[in-house]
Amino acid sequence: MTLALTVVVPCYNERANIAPMVAALDKALTGLSWEVVFVDDDSPDGTSVEAKCIAQDDPRVRCIRRIGRRGLSSAVIEGALSSAAEHIAVIDGDMQHDETRLPLMLQAVRGGADMAVGSRHVEGGDSAGLSSPLRVKLSQTGIRVAQAVTHTHLSDPMSGFFLLRRDLFEVLAGRLTGQGFKILLDLILAAPRSLKISEIPYKFRPRTAGESKLDVLVLAQFAGLLLDKALRGTVPLRFISFALVGVVGVLVNILVMLVATRLGDDFGQAQTIGTIIAMMVNFQLNNQLTYRAQRLKGAKAWRGLALFMIVCGLGAIANIGIAKALYAENGLSLFSGAAGAAVGVVWNYAVSSTLVWRIR
Ligand code: GDD
Ligand code: MN
Repeated sequence: MTLALTVVVPCYNERANIAPMVAALDKALTGLSWEVVFVDDDSPDGTSVEAKCIAQDDPRVRCIRRIGRRGLSSAVIEGALSSAAEHIAVIDGDMQHDETRLPLMLQAVRGGADMAVGSRHVEGGDSAGLSSPLRVKLSQTGIRVAQAVTHTHLSDPMSGFFLLRRDLFEVLAGRLTGQGFKILLDLILAAPRSLKISEIPYKFRPRTAGESKLDVLVLAQFAGLLLDKALRGTVPLRFISFALVGVVGVLVNILVMLVATRLGDDFGQAQTIGTIIAMMVNFQLNNQLTYRAQRLKGAKAWRGLALFMIVCGLGAIANIGIAKALYAENGLSLFSGAAGAAVGVVWNYAVSSTLVWRIR
């Protein structure tokens, strides 16, 4: 029998949900030739150990264990690219999506749709599983922004539950950003033409085991994905994030300096304290946001901080040197200052990326 469906399940710390997931798929997909691939980012709870344990006795179950990487979208992409089936479905590994809808979704795609998307917001759907009123509000705002940016009328563009033909996925794969957690949006935006999408209602279930990985920082990354699309990829997203963090750093620097001079420090002292604190804040923000996928932890974070401060110190020297030289030539203070700062931030970005966070 031809392999009809690969179900891709991104998971992080979902150990307790693996066995129930396999059982639920087994029940929902009877009569179909299917496989499931769990893509785990080396969860400390042993998710991949559990998945591989089940896989030993069940050839329909596979597991990809990724080391040194994090990210829902990139996990989904790798799982999908490992498939040889006719169709690919993506579903959360925490049982919040309704796997019993999969045959209906498959039917919709076989019937001519480019993609079937599980939706909580069409007749018969339900988002009861959202854990708090804040999540409901965030979800609604996100949907509105996403609809505006993508020009789609998809009622649930943030859905992580969908199904499409593998050949379509393979075509789009090279154009995905792979960042953040909105893989569906990424796919829709990567398509050269507008996709024919069939929305299948489902009821979003509450989580019973494990916890959600969605937090404010993940949402900030989502804003970044939309910004990247708006700029059509002309400026690297990471650079924008780095530069914005830099702006925050300047504000922190000024604020600390003002407070320190109030408390009686002389200007030189106040500026030194301000600079050091700003660098620490910048390192932390960059580590959490700009380089989230390569986040440094423990001893490596301390070493990274030291290196970051040296890099930025050199950047500041270059910044001031260039600004002074230009000012001496043309006497334009704003232009000279801005040019110096621009060279500084590009230097900081390039060297931080390669040395501190080691992006290849
Ligand atoms: N491999 C991998 N790496 N998996 C991850 C990562 C990661 O960095 N982060 C999260 N996951 C997995 C989780 O283990 C889970 O199976 C799935 O991705 C969704 O993560 P949750 O943390 O449960 O997300 P949620 O319930 O808050 O978000 C839901 O709502 C969004 C729409 O607002 C999910 O349904 C999302 O798919 C959906 O986009
Ligand atoms: Mn969830």
